[in-house]
Amino acid sequence: MSSSTSQNTWLITGASRGIGLELVRQLLESPANLVVAACRTPEKATALSGLKSSAKGSLHVIKLEVTDFDSMRAVPKALEPILGGSGLDYLVNNAGILKPDTPLTLDPEVLLETLRTNTVGPALLTQVCVPFLDKGKTKKIINITSTLGSIASADAFGPGAVASYSMSKTALNMLTYKLKLERPDLVAITLCPGWVKTDLGGEGALLEPKESIAGIIKVATSTTAADSGKFLRYNGEVVPW
Ligand SMILES: NC(=O)c1ccc[n+]([C@@H]2O[C@H](COP(=O)([O-])OP(=O)(O)OC[C@H]3O[C@@H](n4cnc5c(N)ncnc54)[C@H](OP(=O)(O)O)[C@@H]3O)[C@@H](O)[C@H]2O)c1
Repeated sequence: MSSSTSQNTWLITGASRGIGLELVRQLLESPANLVVAACRTPEKATALSGLKSSAKGSLHVIKLEVTDFDSMRAVPKALEPILGGSGLDYLVNNAGILKPDTPLTLDPEVLLETLRTNTVGPALLTQVCVPFLDKGKTKKIINITSTLGSIASADAFGPGAVASYSMSKTALNMLTYKLKLERPDLVAITLCPGWVKTDLGGEGALLEPKESIAGIIKVATSTTAADSGKFLRYNGEVVPW
């Protein structure tokens, strides 16, 4: 299927596996969606490319390493021929890393790598995508965060919970809120997928990707301008900051 302005257009990072892959899979169940799936090594992303054969929607895979700022600035060159003059309706900043640590054991280099991936990457990708979002029908930015980034919830996770990762997501949440203040005409939300069985979430997680992602799509598509700047869960609940 070729791109068309009538389709809803999505750009999703970290689409090689986990939440990103399942999000692409569910979106491609509908011919109404055109998905640009970004991953850092497309040649190895066989599960992603394998979705093409059964897709009802349109799938375009692009190479994107979110810590490589030059590659991020080149995204418009990759997007233009795919979107063909259409705008971008949904930007989903999903790619992320988690390396367990605590405030007193963290390695500064790991903290910087985590911030670069989970916070700076989404900030820069949002900047380069705004001209496409401006032309989009819905103009939505969905930053995939974690309840571990909620200061109000930190006591519940206890002292053993991850420090660098939590800080990166708290900063991502603030980025989202600042974006809403700077551009009230965009819809920017920060969205926790719940605890999901992926490589990052682990086998002990509570949710199957299918359930979490069905919720993410519902929240992403149903939010309106009134929701911009909110910190939400996959089931629509508001997460305390
Ligand atoms: N799973 C959970 O329980 C849970 C809970 C709360 C929030 N989240 C958030 O959900 C998002 C997805 O997590 P997940 O559970 O799906 O994790 P995952 O299974 O570990 O997948 C992570 C994805 O991010 C990509 N990625 C990592 N670093 C990247 C980089 N520098 N450039 C480009 N892509 C990169 C990975 O690509 P490669 O395959 O190339 O490594 C992979 O596609 C993350 O933002 C995470 O913080 C997850």
